[in-house]
Amino acid sequence: MKGSDIAPTRKRLNVNELIPSYLKEAEAYSFDDILSGVRLHLNESPLPPPREVLEKAAQRLSEVNKYIHPSVAERFKELVAEYCKVEPGNVLPTAGGDGAIKMVFYNLANPGDRVVLNYPSYSMFWVYSKVRGFRVEKVSLREDGEWWKEDLDSLIEKAKGARLVVIDDPNNPTGSPMLQAKEELIESLAEAVDGFVLIDEAYHEFAGYTAAKMVEEIPNLLIVRTFSKAFSMASLRVGYLLGSREVIRNLQKAWTPFDVNVIGYVAAVTALENPSYVRELVRQVSKVREELIASLRRLRLRAYNSVTNFVLFRYKGNLLDPLMRSGFAIRKLWEDFYRVSVGTREQVRELIKVMGDVLEDSGSE
Ligand SMILES: Cc1ncc(COP(=O)(O)O)c(C=O)c1O
Repeated sequence: MKGSDIAPTRKRLNVNELIPSYLKEAEAYSFDDILSGVRLHLNESPLPPPREVLEKAAQRLSEVNKYIHPSVAERFKELVAEYCKVEPGNVLPTAGGDGAIKMVFYNLANPGDRVVLNYPSYSMFWVYSKVRGFRVEKVSLREDGEWWKEDLDSLIEKAKGARLVVIDDPNNPTGSPMLQAKEELIESLAEAVDGFVLIDEAYHEFAGYTAAKMVEEIPNLLIVRTFSKAFSMASLRVGYLLGSREVIRNLQKAWTPFDVNVIGYVAAVTALENPSYVRELVRQVSKVREELIASLRRLRLRAYNSVTNFVLFRYKGNLLDPLMRSGFAIRKLWEDFYRVSVGTREQVRELIKVMGDVLEDSGSE
C-alpha cells in the first residue's frame, strides 16, 4: 500500500492545542555571541581547570559507551559534603546550577503557584517561571551608592504564603551581596513562605559566605551551587543542590545518577580532591575585577561594586555592536545597563582600550 492511500483517512492532529498555554507564551533564553574573540558575556572563568583535572577526566572518554557506576555519584556527594560541611544525604548532583534550579522548579512547585523573584535576578529564574506557568511577584532591588540592596521588608511581606522564594546571592547581574547568609533573615523567610526558599550560590566561591550549614536546621531551605564559575567547568555541566535529607531523599526519586555526565563527575571529583586552584583563581579574578571597576570609572562610567566575577555598569548608547566588531562580547541587560565578566588582566586591559576608543568616537563622556 502506498502512503498516499492511507493519508486521507488520518485526521491531522492539532498538536498546538496539546501544548500548555504558558509554554506557548514563554520566550526562549537568547543572547548575542561571537564565534572567535573574547567572550565576556556569560560570567565564565577566564582559565581552564588545571591539567590534572583535565587529564583525569579525559581518561574516561574511552568509557562513554557505558553508564557510570552509582559509586561515582556517591564519591561526588561525599566530597561535596566535605567541601560544604554538610552530610552526603544533603547533596543532590545536578547538570550544572541550572539542573539544580530545574529540580526545584519542576518538582516542588506547580503551574499557577506564586513565586517571588528579585528584580533584576538570574534570567533563568524568569525563563523557568514562565515555562512552568508560575505567577511571578517581583521585589525590586534598589541602588544604594555603589551597591544594589534587597528591600527586606518587601521581600518578607511578599514571601508570605508564596510557594517559592528564589534569591541569587550574590545577585546576578548586579554583583551585589543579598542576604549574606544571615541566619535570622533566612529563618524569617523560611517561616513566611508556604513552600521553599531557594538560594542560588553560583558565585559563592567569589563572595565567601554561604547558608549551606543551615539546610538541616531550616528544612525548607535549598541551595544551588555550580562548578561552572570558580571551578572553571562551565561546559562540563556539573552542579548540585543542597537541602535537608528529607527533601533531597524525595527529590532523588525524580533523578538518576546519570543526570551528570561521567567526564563532569570525574573532573569535579578530581577538583574537590585538590581545590587549591579555585582559591588561586578567586584571588586573581578579584584583583582583576577591582582593576576593571577602577578603569570603567576612569572612563567616567557608573560601574557598581561586585563580589563576583562580573561587573555591572551603565552606558547610554550602543556598546554591543562596536565591541562585537572589535572581538569582545559583553552582555546588554536592559536600557543603559551592561554586564561584563572579569577576564584575564590582558583581556580586561585590551577591552578598556577598545571601550575608550568607542566612547571617544561616539563623543560620549
Ligand atoms: C546566578 C546563577 N545561577 C546559576 C547559573 C547557572 O550556571 P550553570 O548551569 O552553568 O551552573 C548561573 C550562570 O550564569 C548564574 O548566574
